[in-house]
Amino acid sequence: MKEHVDILISEENVDKKIEEIGKKISEEYQGKSVHLICVLKGGAFFMCELAKRITVPVSMDFMAVSSYGSVTESSGHLKMIKDLDESIEGKDVLIVEDIIDSGRTLDKLVTLLKTRGPKSIKVCTLLDKPDRRVVDVNVDYTCFNIPDEFVVGYGLDYDQKYRNLPFIGVVRFEE
Ligand code: IMP
Ligand code: MG
Repeated sequence: MKEHVDILISEENVDKKIEEIGKKISEEYQGKSVHLICVLKGGAFFMCELAKRITVPVSMDFMAVSSYGSVTESSGHLKMIKDLDESIEGKDVLIVEDIIDSGRTLDKLVTLLKTRGPKSIKVCTLLDKPDRRVVDVNVDYTCFNIPDEFVVGYGLDYDQKYRNLPFIGVVRFEE
C-alpha cells in the first residue's frame, strides 16, 4: 500500500506553541532546575526545541521504551530498551513525550519513575489524542490536542519513516 502525508499543523504553528509552553514551564519552575527526560525516539525533536526555550537551568537524560511494533496499535506492554544514565532522586523531573494515545506507555513510565524518588514528576507532551485514552493519566503541559488520526513528523514515525518532517502530518493510505 502506498501512502502520502498531509500537513495537519504547520512548522510555524508548532514552533510558536513550543515557545509558549517553554515560557510557561520557565515561569512555573522559577527558582528551580528542571530535569528533562526524553522518551526516545519520538520525543527527541520536541525536547531539543523545548529545552532551548526554557530559561531556568536544564539537565537532560534519555530513555527508550517500546509499546509498539511497526503497527499502529499500542500493546500496553512496556519494554525497556534504554534506561536513564543518571539517578533522578531528589530532582524535579519533566517527562517529554511525543504523543499520548491510549496512555498505557506513559502510565507505566510514570509508575516506574516514581519508585526512583524524584522530588516531583510532571509530563509535557507535543500531541495528545484524548479520544483514544484507555488509561487515565495526568498530563501537565500539552501543545496540541489532535483528532484520532495517525500522525507523523517532528519526531513521530510511521514504520520508522517521516520523523524528520518539520511539521505534523497525517498519513493517508492509497490503493
Ligand atoms: P500509548 O501507549 O497508546 O499512549 O502510545 C504512545 C506511543 O505510541 C507514542 O509515544 C508513540 O510512540 C506511539 N504513537 C501513538 N500514536 C501515534 C501516531 O499517531 N503516530 C506515531 N506514533 C504514535
Ligand atoms: Mg513515544
